[in-house]
Amino acid sequence: MSENNAPSEAQIAEAVEAALAAVAAAGSSEELKAARIAHLGDKSVITLAGRSIGAVAPELKAVLGKAVGQAKGRVGAAFAARAEEITLVEQQQRLREETVDVTVAVERAARGARHPLSTLQERLSDLFIGMGWEVAEGPEVEAEFFNFDALNFDADHPARQMQDTFYLAPEGSGKIMRTHTSPVQARALLERGVPLYIVCPGKTFRTDELDATHSPVFHQLEGLAVDKHLTMANLVGTLDAVAKGIFGEGAITRLRPSYFPFTEPSAEMDFRCFACDAKLGIDTDADPACRVCGGTGWIEMGGCGMVNPNVLRAAGIDPEEYRGFAFGLGIERILMLRNGVKDMHDMVEGDQRFTQHYGTEI
Ligand code: DAH
Repeated sequence: MSENNAPSEAQIAEAVEAALAAVAAAGSSEELKAARIAHLGDKSVITLAGRSIGAVAPELKAVLGKAVGQAKGRVGAAFAARAEEITLVEQQQRLREETVDVTVAVERAARGARHPLSTLQERLSDLFIGMGWEVAEGPEVEAEFFNFDALNFDADHPARQMQDTFYLAPEGSGKIMRTHTSPVQARALLERGVPLYIVCPGKTFRTDELDATHSPVFHQLEGLAVDKHLTMANLVGTLDAVAKGIFGEGAITRLRPSYFPFTEPSAEMDFRCFACDAKLGIDTDADPACRVCGGTGWIEMGGCGMVNPNVLRAAGIDPEEYRGFAFGLGIERILMLRNGVKDMHDMVEGDQRFTQHYGTEI
């Protein structure tokens, strides 16, 4: 150091060389930062030299000032240039590291899709919710009482026989797998009271062998409305709305006389064949070669009727004051007709290729 501890020109020149060497040696922004602190920081020769200008003899001020100015200029420029280089290199490196190779084959886990029977049950329920009805549920392991007695089945009705119905052990337990969703009618009448507008989608069980059109486990959607002044016209109007909801505008319903213990009068409901309509127009006759309806122009959809007064009485409701209508739809049958599913096996085997192409339906 020269007088007043100011660094000499030679020392400044040395510091500049050292700084330039450090800049050149810095390989990363971290290293460059450390070099900047060492060579341009508070305690660096160049900074100290700058700070000492005021204290040196007047005749030395200009010389020292020029030396410091030049030193700062060169070293500063070197830092700036190196910083730019390093940033570029680091940026390129980051881009290289974060590159995603979109051509690499991905191992895909096969994703399942919702079963069309589930989505169809929801679609039907939604239709009723839209009309202000409620969704009710009941147990699949049901009391014989709700499945048969409360619905006015005689003690010797053939449906009660072992070859049709799954009875649960031990013998005489009074428990069965419900053979239809109609027991929910009796339960809902007792639990919710009147007026009542409910649909009940769910599983039902019968001792059928699995074949192309039967399954021991299948699904129904039960409907029940009980209110003052309800008539068969309300039933027909409701079924027409269902037909349109499932098969589209133009769909209509017809009723044929039938018998169920829990309805009086009872009817089978048919929907006008949508395949004939699509081919020939709504107002024309059936296509004799139609595979969907067999040339009749109508497809069977399930049973329905006006609630038998005995059913209302069993639930403590006065049939003089309240009347109701009810219906039961087979979900598998609707899926087969609506979506052209030809074999029940497809619905129960759980092959993802079957469910997946329904996957986008909500
Ligand atoms: N439970 C009947 C069955 O499984 C279907 C049925 C018929 C339901 C008439 C009803 C009805 O609600 O009113 O065959």
